[in-house]
Amino acid sequence: AEGDAAKGEKEFNKCKACHMIADGDETIVRGGRVGPNLHGVIGRVMGSVEDYRYSDGFEAKAEAGEVWTEENLAEYVKDPSEFLGDRSKMTFKLRKGGEDVAAYLATFSE
Ligand code: HEM
Repeated sequence: AEGDAAKGEKEFNKCKACHMIADGDETIVRGGRVGPNLHGVIGRVMGSVEDYRYSDGFEAKAEAGEVWTEENLAEYVKDPSEFLGDRSKMTFKLRKGGEDVAAYLATFSE
């Protein structure tokens, strides 16, 4: 399903506890540091933010060179550990609206 970026912007309030959106030194959306910066996440290799300590499942995804798309990100947020096939450090689950949040995040990718 096609996501709605405007709806996703509101959904992203739930993500801010742990994630910011920052382009280098410029903070675009303030958020926590428990999770990696999500600027440019769509199109980025999974588990690839420098100096961020990911779970083993993400280390494997990074080694395999798997890339985030709107589709797989929407699937991931429903159940991160199920998506990884291993226990993710992200215990939060977004039951619905994942495609909207993915469309919103895509606005921060080239
Ligand atoms: C990882 C999205 C909410 C904590 C990630 C990643 C994405 C993501 C795409 C992987 C990024 C990468 O590969 O660099 C989201 C979205 C959220 C959300 C869209 C809201 C719908 C949260 C919340 C928390 C959290 C609320 C904390 C309570 C984490 C952590 C990781 C992570 C700790 C690293 C996971 C690991 O290493 O297994 N998140 N997140 N996230 N997120 Fe979230």
